[in-house]
Amino acid sequence: TFTPRVFSGIKPSGGLTLGNYLGAIKRFVGMQGQMETIYCVVDLHAITVWQDPKELAHATREVAAGYLAAGLDPTQSILFNQSRVSQHAELAWIFNCVARVGWMNRMTQFKDKAGANAEKVSLGLYAYPSLMAADILLYHATHVPVGEDQKQHVELTRDIANKFNHDYKIDFFPETIPVIDGPATRVMNLRDGTKKMSKSGESDMERINMRDDADTIAKKFKKSKSDQDVLPETVEGLKDRPEARNLVDIYAALSDTTPDAVIADYAGAGWGRFKPALADLAVAKLAPISDEMTRLMDDPAEIDRILADGADRARAIAAPILAQTYEIVGL
Ligand code: ADP
Ligand code: NA
Repeated sequence: TFTPRVFSGIKPSGGLTLGNYLGAIKRFVGMQGQMETIYCVVDLHAITVWQDPKELAHATREVAAGYLAAGLDPTQSILFNQSRVSQHAELAWIFNCVARVGWMNRMTQFKDKAGANAEKVSLGLYAYPSLMAADILLYHATHVPVGEDQKQHVELTRDIANKFNHDYKIDFFPETIPVIDGPATRVMNLRDGTKKMSKSGESDMERINMRDDADTIAKKFKKSKSDQDVLPETVEGLKDRPEARNLVDIYAALSDTTPDAVIADYAGAGWGRFKPALADLAVAKLAPISDEMTRLMDDPAEIDRILADGADRARAIAAPILAQTYEIVGL
């Protein structure tokens, strides 16, 4: 039996979005205090696509600042960046030798990201899920809060753990549970209700950044794609209205309620009423976090100190698990 332990992470590959906040950070904060929590800035994942070195260092601190500003407490959670705990890369290599090429070929996120360009992307982008399995299993983590887009990768993590346990005839790695709950596990982009909101999306108008100012947030929601209808009497009425559904889900997640409750309040409302209310709500929730991020970013040495301390504590868990893995494998 394994002690309940949470692991998750975010890539420092651009500014944090409302998708990262609702799908990840807010839920990370919710799990803090309930069990042991380890949250990483996954910089080794970021470099699977080109990152400007100076911007990468800045983005790493910014994700850490986002964690802290949203309420992660370094005395309650371990906060660190991945590259500072070299055991991640070491275990990933072992998992590259456990995972099968056929498994990787089924990863839909790789297909989406590589597109028609699959011959030209980095080998790291292809092996990404194996590094993610290492991130999780290096801590024998049992619970991984993620957005819907990461579900397949957490399932692959289970496949790798099972194959390792089976091949070496030992019950060493746990079966990790993906924790995907609440109304905002797949926040869609504001211009195309069928694509996920992402840091690396093409246009800034399609996403809300955690650090957008109030006017920008209002403008983006105002211009967001919607439809001609008013809001329905029940959530069933949102079926086949993906853009409307997305805006209602965002409202529900930001206000800690359910889409049903939002619809109960806004049944019959037009977009001219709903969108400004949504923008006000988003500003009320994001502005204090954004202000605190700005304050924290003024003192990068303090962020680095928190991350270095977190890396020491992460290493203290990771090193013995990697050492045991080496022994099991015969290395
Ligand atoms: P991005 O896709 O914005 O680059 P990451 O790959 O770093 O973000 O993902 C970090 C976490 O944020 C993951 O758990 C991911 O599932 C979650 N996440 C990212 N975008 C969204 C979204 N649009 N809706 C919900 N969760 C999301
Ligand atoms: Na992602």
